[in-house]
Amino acid sequence: MKHFYVINGPNLNLLGQRNPEIYGTHTLSDLEKALDDYVQDRSVKLSHFQSNHEGALIDWLHQAHHQKNDGVLLNAGAYTHYSYALHDAIEAIQVPVIEVHLSDIASRIERWRHTSVIAPVVTQSFKGDGIQSYFNAIDYLLDLSD
Ligand code: DQA
Repeated sequence: MKHFYVINGPNLNLLGQRNPEIYGTHTLSDLEKALDDYVQDRSVKLSHFQSNHEGALIDWLHQAHHQKNDGVLLNAGAYTHYSYALHDAIEAIQVPVIEVHLSDIASRIERWRHTSVIAPVVTQSFKGDGIQSYFNAIDYLLDLSD
């Protein structure tokens, strides 16, 4: 049985209410349930975590490392674009971290969203496919750990 963390960052607790035309109408618990359903026959256990605090996200990345977790899906929200602390945490740990975004950050109107400071240290990135981005990340981690 593989064990992955699904870590969602700032403002993702507001999914469903926040810019639904960009992020969709599903809530964070809808997303978590869809992911749990997706892994049901795949011998994977998911642990879900959401925080609006940078340090809490870093603590979970460290915990994934200490627990020798098999992988992390990380949607770092806006921290993606400027958190060197998250960059360093990902670089410091041995666990594969997959960057996930619901929207296609490369084609968003705000130019600051086009840069991901974590992209150089993650194992892979999936963006722009809504919940499917998370499914793709799970499939990728499963292929990696086969
Ligand atoms: C996001 C994209 C980020 O730019 C934004 O700040 C988010 C969500 C996404 O999933 O598309 O909070 O990471």
